[in-house]
Amino acid sequence: MKKILDLISEELKNAFEAAGYDGDLGRAVPSNRPDLCEYQCNGAMAGAKRYRKAPMEIAGEAAEKLQESKVFSQAVVAAPGFLNLKIREEFLTEYLREMSGDEKFGLEMPAAPRKVVIDYGGANIAKPLHVGHIRPALIGESIKRILRYCGHEVIGDVHLGDWGLQMGLIITELKERHPEWVYFDESYEGEYPTEAPFTISQLEEIYPTASAKSKADPEYKARAMEDTYKLQSGVRGHRALWNHIRNVSISDLKVNYDNLNTEFDLWNGESDVHDLIPGMVADMKEKGYAYESEGALVVDVKEETDTKEVPPCMILKSDGASLYNTTDLATILDRMNTIHPDEIIYVTDKRQELYFEQVFRCARKTGLTTPETKLTWLGHGTMNGKDGKPFKTREGGVMRLENLIRETTEEMYRKITENQALSGEEAQETARLIAVSALKYGDLSNQASKDYVFDIERFTSFEGDTGPYILYTIVRIKSILNKYQERGGAPENARLRDAASASEKDLMMELAKFNEMMENACAEIAPHKVCAYIYDLANAFNSFYHETRILAEEDEEKKAGWIALLVLTCRLLETSIGVLGFAAPERM
Ligand code: ARG
Repeated sequence: MKKILDLISEELKNAFEAAGYDGDLGRAVPSNRPDLCEYQCNGAMAGAKRYRKAPMEIAGEAAEKLQESKVFSQAVVAAPGFLNLKIREEFLTEYLREMSGDEKFGLEMPAAPRKVVIDYGGANIAKPLHVGHIRPALIGESIKRILRYCGHEVIGDVHLGDWGLQMGLIITELKERHPEWVYFDESYEGEYPTEAPFTISQLEEIYPTASAKSKADPEYKARAMEDTYKLQSGVRGHRALWNHIRNVSISDLKVNYDNLNTEFDLWNGESDVHDLIPGMVADMKEKGYAYESEGALVVDVKEETDTKEVPPCMILKSDGASLYNTTDLATILDRMNTIHPDEIIYVTDKRQELYFEQVFRCARKTGLTTPETKLTWLGHGTMNGKDGKPFKTREGGVMRLENLIRETTEEMYRKITENQALSGEEAQETARLIAVSALKYGDLSNQASKDYVFDIERFTSFEGDTGPYILYTIVRIKSILNKYQERGGAPENARLRDAASASEKDLMMELAKFNEMMENACAEIAPHKVCAYIYDLANAFNSFYHETRILAEEDEEKKAGWIALLVLTCRLLETSIGVLGFAAPERM
């Protein structure tokens, strides 16, 4: 379906052409005087220069051609040459009817769907997820859903940090504590136990201990590096132990991500591309891109147009060890070979901007990607506390993600059991759903690149620009629809009617913008646009609701028209929160 704005502009274009002017003058924009009109056209002002004619005159002639319009109920000239436009109710109704009957509410599917990999989440093995991991998870998950909804093929990959020194550290510490374990017996040739010899809580304690020891004790650090090397070169016991670490961690990560409705198609890690590195490096050397500089192997990535210095991309350290860069580059190679994506999108902290610039340039220069492959980096800001610094626990420590979710859920539970009739298990589940909406909406409603302040009071409020407000609106609509049904009505058969009031028309106009909004959110990988839309939509609905006694209406057709409007509003709100990655309860 065409976007309503395009239909409006088409009508204007025809009017300008019929009046003898260039059609490009006829373009509609949302009105900046909503008290006077719904859309406006500024083309006569541009036409004035082109045709050496007063804008008022041009606008007047175009307006004349619009008097019989099926799109506009009003097209009037306003000084110094604006066209003030109002949409015809019948046209709007027809548009919404068509939308209602379309599976994607009028959103057109791409002629050539793109294959996109999204690298998001950024979790590391054996380290708990903390508040710093919330943004890449929420933003990445939403982008994945938006792109999918818009018809693209999207593969989400968590790209686990599972291979570096942190792994060696854990193994060193385990050996320190349990030297008798069969994993450390290098002469052992049998099978290793299938059960992990530790739990996730033990692992989470081991890593910081080992990390602290290695900082204080060079000899310990040397052992950790040795163990890292052994692991990477395939020593059986080390690999077996590492597999346990990986499995125990992944199960735990899945539980946590699941609580945020975040699911990855691929649980690949840095380790998965280990074997690709030697070939990739040899190729870069052979083609003359990689050269030695102060012992290390680097690729120059600066460009003539650079205004700031872009240092070379380091491929191997002087001791021959690979780096974070190296695995990211090898991962690009792997994705190109196995997935053949049109685009790879990375969602990481915005402090990694220069890093990704180097990696992307290096990938393009050395031919890891094709010239058509789009590499996109979306840097997100920080979630701050009220003091404007990165969010901390009350004690000043790093807050674990599960605690943040728990505290938000408890706050929500307190709120909904305080003044509502919900209790027991339903209250628990409802509190969980609303808490997720509070966290997600509080995050996603900000432009990703900006920092924001985590304000539990505000995020969990049922009023204002919040997730709970959106859910509350959905639940309100569902409750009206349920009552209508209980009294014998059939919402699915209800037929839309022309708007009879200003608030009803406003609501209809908001609904009609859905396809345009979704297309923009996808093109700009911008979940905050979906949030802004549903906030406007919820407000438009609530204004209409407060002015209209829907169920008490005696004219059944009129009532049914409103019910149809509610059904569409509810479907659009639910679809939108679906792409944001949260869901509404049945009641609250
Ligand atoms: N695991 C990394 C970290 O904790 C983030 C990974 C980001 N993604 C990437 N492809 N480099 O910092």
